[in-house]
Amino acid sequence: MIGRGHAPGRVNLIGEHIDYNGGTVLPAALSVGVSVELEPRSDTQMRLGTDQYETTAMRDMSEDAKGDWTDPSLGALREAKALGLLEGGANLAIRSTIPQGAGLSSSAALIVAILKAARDAATGATASDADIAIAARRVENNYLGVPCGIMDQFAVAIAKPGMAMALDTASLAYELVELPQDHRFVVLHSGVSRKLTDGRYKTRKEECDAAKAHFDTDNLCALDPAKIATSNLAEPIRRRAMHCASEHRRALASVEALKSGDMAHFGVLMNESHASMRDDFEVSLEAIDALVATALREGAIGARLTGGGFGGCIVALVHNEAKDKWCATVLRQHPKARLICEA
Ligand code: GLA
Repeated sequence: MIGRGHAPGRVNLIGEHIDYNGGTVLPAALSVGVSVELEPRSDTQMRLGTDQYETTAMRDMSEDAKGDWTDPSLGALREAKALGLLEGGANLAIRSTIPQGAGLSSSAALIVAILKAARDAATGATASDADIAIAARRVENNYLGVPCGIMDQFAVAIAKPGMAMALDTASLAYELVELPQDHRFVVLHSGVSRKLTDGRYKTRKEECDAAKAHFDTDNLCALDPAKIATSNLAEPIRRRAMHCASEHRRALASVEALKSGDMAHFGVLMNESHASMRDDFEVSLEAIDALVATALREGAIGARLTGGGFGGCIVALVHNEAKDKWCATVLRQHPKARLICEA
């Protein structure tokens, strides 16, 4: 039997680099996504066809990652097998509308969609969407060697377009919150590409681990910022911890602002988040700071770097009716930037 799975892309509205530090994050699902058809095979081969590449790839399920485009799919099938959703190999047909390398979780969405398709094809499968999200993170961390947190996988496994997910990454409890009708979150690519495997993401993770060891805690976000401010932790580790504790509080406040429709306050929190990522966590770049500044000057209510940083996208909050003119004016001043999508 053929199984089908779908997962959307995501943009993170606020709560950056705290999904591996016990914080609350607020990603939103996008209308772009990945759809997968999976047909189980009785041998141990994966046959992979996508609308992104003309060729079809064959690989054996026993193979390690080799650093090409087929790895995420093979890793997902291996994980499906480990979960008992698949006995042998599979034929995969993949269609994606998520721009790759833009920081919209195209890889998490692909892996989650494959796992969901395997669940759909299996008889009597009991894996929940949360189980699938956790398994998808294992594929990234253990098979692909990408040191990411749990945010992307949870968002794309559970949230639907038009919804944000307030996810407590310490307990994995979550709440879905509707996005406002009269505002848009617009995602603009800075023109500077980035990869989580380039080492800088890992460095930040190691710096956070050093802060955790100093305070003897698993949860940097639960620390009182005043305690971090007065600690004898060396720089820049102290500032990294400060970002986590303050970003977590901003994310919690943003969830409340979103629920009560206070988008002006949401914008203020986005701007504070950007400043913290720039000054304390140091994951921004001049080109991104300049794009954020233009976005605000031209009328955005809030704007910030989104995702892992060191390039990629900004997300800006704008009124519906101002959006088109705003976007054209911002892009005219930043020829390398481009509109990616909106939520
Ligand atoms: C990437 C990772 C996520 C998260 C963000 C930063 O998107 O995949 O787990 O850490 O960076 O918030």
